[in-house]
Amino acid sequence: MRAHIITYGCQMNEYDSHLVASELVSLGWELVDSVEEADFVLVNTCAVRGKPVEKVRSLLGQLRKEKERRGLLIGMMGCLAQLDEGQQMAKKFGVDVLLGPGALTSLPEALKANERFWDLTFREDVLDYIPPPPKGALSAHVTIIRGCNHHCTYCIVPTTRGPEVSRHPDLILKEIELLKQAGVVEVTLLGQNVNSYGKDQPGFPSFAELLRMVGGMGIPRVRFLTSHPVNFTDDIIEAIAETPAICRYIHLPVQSGSDRVLRRMAREYRRAHYLERIRKIREALPDAVLSTDIIVGFPGETEEDFQETLSLYDEVGYDQAYMFIYSPRPGTPAYKHFQDLPREVKVERLMRLIEKQKEWSYRRNLEWVGKTVEVLVRGEAKEEGFVQGHDRGNHPVLVPASQAPVPGLYQVEIKQATPHLLFGEVVGAKAPAPIPCPWPRG
Ligand code: SAH
Ligand code: SF4
Ligand code: F3S
Repeated sequence: MRAHIITYGCQMNEYDSHLVASELVSLGWELVDSVEEADFVLVNTCAVRGKPVEKVRSLLGQLRKEKERRGLLIGMMGCLAQLDEGQQMAKKFGVDVLLGPGALTSLPEALKANERFWDLTFREDVLDYIPPPPKGALSAHVTIIRGCNHHCTYCIVPTTRGPEVSRHPDLILKEIELLKQAGVVEVTLLGQNVNSYGKDQPGFPSFAELLRMVGGMGIPRVRFLTSHPVNFTDDIIEAIAETPAICRYIHLPVQSGSDRVLRRMAREYRRAHYLERIRKIREALPDAVLSTDIIVGFPGETEEDFQETLSLYDEVGYDQAYMFIYSPRPGTPAYKHFQDLPREVKVERLMRLIEKQKEWSYRRNLEWVGKTVEVLVRGEAKEEGFVQGHDRGNHPVLVPASQAPVPGLYQVEIKQATPHLLFGEVVGAKAPAPIPCPWPRG
């Protein structure tokens, strides 16, 4: 029996796809790379914006045709599966197995059932599952907390993933130890809001304490995603500053620079608080690389509000930003209570923000020219003759393929910068010795 998994959405979904893939393998399934080869196609869905939802709708339409033609089993999991919108789709397109993000460990039972199997419960054992290390990977994700306790008015995630639940630290450390033994050199701790780690369970370490624990395990690089400006407290900054393994790359979503918009978003902080956090980060970690998420065209956002986002961008001078046009999500407070802005207004603002982002990324990238950085080379680049990796600040870095013949960690001197890329040359000793293996490697 052969299965194919298609994944939309964020790193949490990628992790969950890896989790179900390992469940399938342990049940004796073979994983294949295409729908055509598969008896079971499982779609891991995202509902954060309209676009991924529409992609799933059209994919399910194609899968239903395939099912009618040759009797395929269709599975749907992830965030959209948890919503009415997704369940309507599942009915319409003949989905056989439907699992919410908390029900992934029901898969074996679902595959045994000879009828439609839907599970939308939160199963405690989803926290206990330790997927085996991804084959040959140098970099891996580890979920440390599921769910979100914030209630940003635009966001569907608290509805799809439920309240925050932290994984037991022993499980996290065990999973990371296995990754280390398998040759992984970079671990990313994942959660919708990793900063809240431990708060829901008496006796668990705080996020800052967990960072120190993981940072002391001998993994060369430890990263984390995502932080929330309200929960990004001084103890976390101190833990990063005092733990060399932790990468000084901080993704701190601001969403808007306008207090009026932040209030309507229910972001729980104001511009001044955010900028104070940035000041504190810069003071303790002068070499920190900063990135953010910004939503443009939130309902009621005026030109003045948008100008405040642009001015905040200049005040911080982000290295990188992920910018989104506001997408009304049924079931969210903003969808119910606020009027969406015209599309032209939103698109025009996004274009101006992208210009700002390019200017700053170029400026920030140029600051790295002449410096030596540690690059995790992972595979061939699109550019002929180069391999690609990323440094500790998450910048994509290209080096001549002849200088980095195998994937691994290299010391690289940056020679050139563009708004999107750094180009460098391998210098001196590789640090530490890369693990030899054939291309391609994840
Ligand atoms: N928990 C993380 C990530 C949430 S989803 C956080 O709080 O930052 C990732 C990003 O998608 C968000 O940061 C936000 O910028 C964006 N996003 C969420 N809902 C959105 C919506 N309805 N429309 C547009 N962008 C949205
Ligand atoms: Fe969504 Fe806000 Fe939670 Fe992030 S913090 S997942 S944006 S509700
Ligand atoms: Fe999408 Fe769910 Fe992630 S809505 S962004 S897959 S948490």
